[in-house]
Amino acid sequence: MRTPSHWVVTLAAARAARRGDRGAARAAALGAVIPDLPYWLLAASLAVRGRPRGQIRTRLGYDGSELNWPPDLAAHSVLAPAAVAAAAALLRSGRLAALAAGWAGHILCDLPVHHSDARPHGYPLWARRFRSPLSAWERHRHARPVTAAEFMIVAAAIAFLMKVSGHGGDGPASPAGVSRSRPLRERLADAAVFLGAFAAHPAQVGAVLPTSRRTVTNMLNLAGEEFGWRDAKVIVELGAGTGVYTEQILRRAGPRTEVLAFERDPVLARRLTERLQPAHPNLRVIGGDAAQLEDRLDGRLTPLVVSALPWTSMRADVRNRLLTMIGRTLAPGGALLTIQYSTHREREFTRYFGRISHVWSRGNIPPAALYELREPRAAAGDAGVDRG
Ligand SMILES: C[S@@+](CC[C@H](N)C(=O)[O-])C[C@H]1O[C@@H](n2cnc3c(N)ncnc32)[C@H](O)[C@@H]1O
Repeated sequence: MRTPSHWVVTLAAARAARRGDRGAARAAALGAVIPDLPYWLLAASLAVRGRPRGQIRTRLGYDGSELNWPPDLAAHSVLAPAAVAAAAALLRSGRLAALAAGWAGHILCDLPVHHSDARPHGYPLWARRFRSPLSAWERHRHARPVTAAEFMIVAAAIAFLMKVSGHGGDGPASPAGVSRSRPLRERLADAAVFLGAFAAHPAQVGAVLPTSRRTVTNMLNLAGEEFGWRDAKVIVELGAGTGVYTEQILRRAGPRTEVLAFERDPVLARRLTERLQPAHPNLRVIGGDAAQLEDRLDGRLTPLVVSALPWTSMRADVRNRLLTMIGRTLAPGGALLTIQYSTHREREFTRYFGRISHVWSRGNIPPAALYELREPRAAAGDAGVDRG
């Protein structure tokens, strides 16, 4: 089962089991994602170190290879939640017990849908792996119907969570006062659409969940207090997803500021349009590649480009073309604000921009580096492109 599915299904199951105890439900949901953390850490470290695609696929079991990384095996062993459950009993901690239950539930839910990539569930004491005749990834093991069933279960879990949650805010407004609550059910629906897009094109989407609202606020604040949001003629957003940045940009911008939002995934672009266009005639959603930026600006310059494009998983030549193009379209004094999950690309950014700084948004999942890039270098071109 996919990591976000574990999270949603466990959260719903825990809410159903302990109606009044949201804390226990959150602990159980956390327990349900912990087993996959070493796996994603390995994936991120292989990608950041620029390992060849074939090697990454093998290490992560995408080509039918066995998973053999000890931290991953340990996290998927029943001994791990058993140890947590023992600690919960000793400490008489209900939260820890819920975390252990979520962790054990993850291992149980994985049993029927892993074949080649099944782990030895008694690691390190027993090496035997239970290989299910079904798999969520291997086509000849009915991956399609298994995935469809998983998505239906997730949809039912989301529907249940919407029902029990009703409408609710999630925390205080942003310091800038621009981040208002949207009903939880709408945000869950966005998360479900986003998750579907990630499942279809993981490298293109580059994240399993939309960016948190607080992170978006922090990123947009990097434009600076003196930035003339309301006077800007055109503001650009690249990789808009379900619109978490777009809605905050629209709240800050003036009614005559054109907000040009590029989103390549057609399902996400449609959701973005349906959600925000009716109330914002100044929004133009471009359901296509960010490479159209210069054509769509048609000679105009912009003071601000906000990007959530997944630079790391992008081909080096595509990244090079886009960064060069963004530099050409920025007005004097303009900025590119972009989110990253590591500082790995920083050296490369210095080839395109003369002034670079970043702040960390640690509350985001995963923690994010928010970059402010200014003073584009003229014609950075192809020279010295990082092929990683
Ligand atoms: C990490 S997601 C960010 C989505 C959203 N802005 C957020 O923060 O939740 C990156 C988005 O960029 C889109 N994307 C990736 N490459 C793109 C490209 N070349 N042109 C336009 N959109 C692209 C993906 O489809 C995905 O929706």
